[in-house]
Amino acid sequence: MRRALAALSLLLIAPSACRPSAPADPAVAEFADAYPTEVVARGGERRYELVAAPTTLPMLDGRALAVWAYNGQVPGPILHATVGERLHVRFTNRLPQDTTVHWHGVRVPHAMDGVPGVTQPPVEPGESFDYAFVPKDAGTFWFHPHIRSAEQVERGLFGVLIVHEAEPPPFSRDVVWVLDDWRLGRDGAIDPNFVTRHDLAHDGRWGSVVTVNGRVNETLAVRPGERIRLRLVNTANGRVFRPDFSGLDARVIAVDGMTTARPVEPRGFELAPGNRLDLDVTIPVEAGGRQFRIVDDFIAGRPNSLAWIRVAGDAVETPRFASPARAHVPAWKDVPPEPTLAFELQAERGGPFGIAWTLNGEAPTDHAHHPGRRLPLGRFARLRFVNASFRLHPMHTHGMFFKVLARNGAPVDEPWWRDTVLVHAKEIIDVGLVPLDPGRWMMHCHVLEHAEAGMMTTLDVAS
Ligand code: C2O
Ligand code: CU
Repeated sequence: MRRALAALSLLLIAPSACRPSAPADPAVAEFADAYPTEVVARGGERRYELVAAPTTLPMLDGRALAVWAYNGQVPGPILHATVGERLHVRFTNRLPQDTTVHWHGVRVPHAMDGVPGVTQPPVEPGESFDYAFVPKDAGTFWFHPHIRSAEQVERGLFGVLIVHEAEPPPFSRDVVWVLDDWRLGRDGAIDPNFVTRHDLAHDGRWGSVVTVNGRVNETLAVRPGERIRLRLVNTANGRVFRPDFSGLDARVIAVDGMTTARPVEPRGFELAPGNRLDLDVTIPVEAGGRQFRIVDDFIAGRPNSLAWIRVAGDAVETPRFASPARAHVPAWKDVPPEPTLAFELQAERGGPFGIAWTLNGEAPTDHAHHPGRRLPLGRFARLRFVNASFRLHPMHTHGMFFKVLARNGAPVDEPWWRDTVLVHAKEIIDVGLVPLDPGRWMMHCHVLEHAEAGMMTTLDVAS
């Protein structure tokens, strides 16, 4: 009896003492087991200055391109922090427009989420804003504006935030590949027509020049035997990439920043706008002098060359360690089959752009006063995305991770968390989540043109 009581009280307090509702729900208890609900503050602080401004950079194939850049770089600087350490970013806007910085995938306090009118006022030209938070999860994240994103991200405003584990696995090197594409006008400059009817009638703005780290045919020089942590981030407005790593010894070890339950074969993984993928890549010792081309084959018959891995020099000893893995990701097989909230994804004529993208028939522009959808704090919820359209919609939630539970009614057990899931034409996807942070969190399509034209709502998490 004493034992049973002890076990019960453990169950009740395990998710964290400050969690308001105890997880009576077995799904919640299962979740609390798997998810890093609390962070141990380590002390220490990383300070960064971040300035957004127009500039001209050698880009793509080496041409001078007029861009908008963070700290004069495209992609922006890679910011580093260790999980539990405080990150302080003093941001200054030197753009001709209002902007904000959103920390995609990072579970930040609501006031730091960078959503104009919902979590903060816009940062006006010449103004500054201090973003400060303690990252709760180690992993690959990114940051970008949340105002006129279809224009600002396309012009070059995006950067990567790496939150390191307290004890990072001893890879030979840690490499970031930012995947993007660019639509240029006849003059070779970024085409300044944003959120066009064409973009809206399709999967957003797809460019004609595909880059990795802002360059066409990015090359990574490695030595035989090296073991690389390769962090892929899709910052494109609309393009989906399906990178092919066949020929290399590569395993997925994290999706959307969160470590997978086990290493996963990368074949066929669709990297939609917003998604990240961490790979554990070992370069064979006998690969000296070889080069591997990484190709995107999302569109059958129209592959894009992404990057090269060139192997040269003396072989190094391959670091031996088990790939990072999360102890357990719940399969959530016994959760209620009916959705807590369902969203129909559809388009209609009208709105400021001529075509509006809707969630349940709504395409709101003012999220501060939008009724939103309520989600109970600390309780299991199932969200259903019903794509009634023929276009792609990578659906993204701020402030929470979710698990895909079903595709077109068939159960799915992806052994990882996500913050963005691609919903294909006419597809129905169910996801499960347990919101842990109170606040009004955006949920939107990460095709930035679709979001701009209304495909955005809020999930209001409260007890
Ligand atoms: Cu990267 Cu609101 O999103
Ligand atoms: Cu969309």
